[in-house]
Amino acid sequence: MAISTTDSIRYVDCLAINEVPPGKSKLLWVNSWPILIGNDGGQIYALYGLCGHQQLSLEGGQIWRGVVDCPWHHFQYELKTGENLYPKRVYPLQHLPHLCEQVKSLQTFPVRLVNHIIQVGLPTTETRGATIDKTAVLGC
Ligand code: FES
Repeated sequence: MAISTTDSIRYVDCLAINEVPPGKSKLLWVNSWPILIGNDGGQIYALYGLCGHQQLSLEGGQIWRGVVDCPWHHFQYELKTGENLYPKRVYPLQHLPHLCEQVKSLQTFPVRLVNHIIQVGLPTTETRGATIDKTAVLGC
């Protein structure tokens, strides 16, 4: 496993590019982080790999037009930002407060390709967090 460090990010070898064909994703545990690597038409993304709904793996979720669809109950996340798109943008969360915790955004990670190997940048400091609270504006 090759590792290189840039400031607060440490890049770690994860997969060969041909191990994640377009439209597919893989879940890896990298230094105890569950990382979902997804290929959306050749664009590679990495984000926290457990769904906010029931903390199940996002691996196998359909990837299409910048979105990963959880294979379990179809919560959807934007690959680039980790933002929950469904159900957050569909249901009025101010009336469904029990969903607030489940629809937080997933943490995303920088990705780079080095000699056909996908490297994911992980924080060097312990800033581990499955989700990012972007629900404050919803009053949750
Ligand atoms: S675990 Fe992902 S939608 Fe239920």
